[in-house]
Amino acid sequence: MSEELTVTGSSREERYRSLLPQVRALAAGEPDAVARMANICAALKYGMGYFWAGFYLVKGGELVLGPFQGPVACTRIARGRGVCGRCWESGETVIVEDVRLFPGHIACNPASRSEIVVPLKDREGRVAGVLDVDQDVAGAFDGVDRKYLEEVAAVATLGGEGIEP
Ligand code: SME
Repeated sequence: MSEELTVTGSSREERYRSLLPQVRALAAGEPDAVARMANICAALKYGMGYFWAGFYLVKGGELVLGPFQGPVACTRIARGRGVCGRCWESGETVIVEDVRLFPGHIACNPASRSEIVVPLKDREGRVAGVLDVDQDVAGAFDGVDRKYLEEVAAVATLGGEGIEP
């Protein structure tokens, strides 16, 4: 079976609206969270044109790199460290307009200039991982990205199925 993704629209909001049903369709009926996450990363990188899109999953008390698309990245992040660790600690989406101005930002790649990190919640509402999306220009993310990427994160977790550490 061939899987294809076609994202249309000139604004980011239009492109997310085009992307989201396709992401839902790709994930529908797939019980394996890693498989869902892998396709979500490809959809975000190639459908939205992001520099890096990937997941870190809580394992053994730290965030460990999961499925991603983009340049190689650091593999482990402690709770509270960097943007990802801050998102894990707070349980809230974190938007960083300019990574150079975020104290403690972990620079996996020097080309990354702005970033959004969205928490993944398990069935009990605990943070089981994060979705991290980076762009190579400053100020790439705002409330539009928060709204749609939180929906994408919900597709990744599908109510917590398959993501318990
Ligand atoms: N910049 C992140 C680390 C992960 S990479 O961007 C892929 C952070 O500060 O947590």
